[in-house]
Amino acid sequence: MSVQPATAQDAAAIKRLLDAAGLPTADLEGRWLERFLVARDDAQVVGAVGLDLAGDVGLLRSLVVADGPRRRGLGQELVLAAENRARQRGAKALFLLTTTAAEFFKRRGYAEADRAIAPDAIRQMPQFATLCPASSTFMAKIDGALG
Ligand SMILES: CC(C)(COP(=O)(O)OP(=O)(O)OC[C@H]1O[C@@H](n2cnc3c(N)ncnc32)[C@H](O)[C@@H]1OP(=O)(O)O)[C@@H](O)C(=O)NCCC(=O)NCCS
Repeated sequence: MSVQPATAQDAAAIKRLLDAAGLPTADLEGRWLERFLVARDDAQVVGAVGLDLAGDVGLLRSLVVADGPRRRGLGQELVLAAENRARQRGAKALFLLTTTAAEFFKRRGYAEADRAIAPDAIRQMPQFATLCPASSTFMAKIDGALG
C-alpha cells in the first residue's frame, strides 16, 4: 500500500470511489487531479484525498477508502499525507466539511468550528459554497497541529 500523487490514469477510479461513497464530484474538472493523492494496492486505487489550497489555508476534501480495505489505517495515512503536503506548501490551517466522518476527524485533531470563522478563500471554494449540504459539520485544524 502506498500514498502518491494522483495521475491521469487514476481519474476514473477516484470518481468511482467518491460516487460509491456518496461524496460530491461535480467540481472535479480542469486540473483537479493535481490536487489529489491516492492510496494504491498494487496498481489498484483503493483510496483518495483531495487538498484545495489557497494562500496559507486549505480545504481537505473527498477523503475516501474503498469498502474492502477500511479500518486498516489507510484513511489515517491519506490524511497525514495531505497534511504533509499542505504544510510543505505553506498552509497554516486546514478546514473540512463532513456529514459522515466527524468523529474520525476529531480523533485526528480536527475540531468542530462555526462556519463564520471560515476564511474567504475557503468560502469561495465550490465544495464549501455549493456542494456540501448546509447540515454538514465544519471542522478546522490550525497551526502547529498539522501533520
Ligand atoms: C472515513 C474513511 C475515509 C476512513 O477510512 P479508513 O481507511 O477506514 O480509516 P482508518 O482505518 O485510518 O481509521 C478508521 C478506524 O479504523 C481503526 N483502525 C485503523 N487500523 C486498524 C486496524 N488495523 N484494525 C482495526 N481497526 C483499525 C482506526 O483506529 C479508526 O478508528 P477511530 O476513528 O476510532 O480511530 C472511510 O470510512 C470512508 O471512505 N468513508 C466514506 C467516505 C467518507 O465519509 N469520507 C469523509 C468525507 S470528508
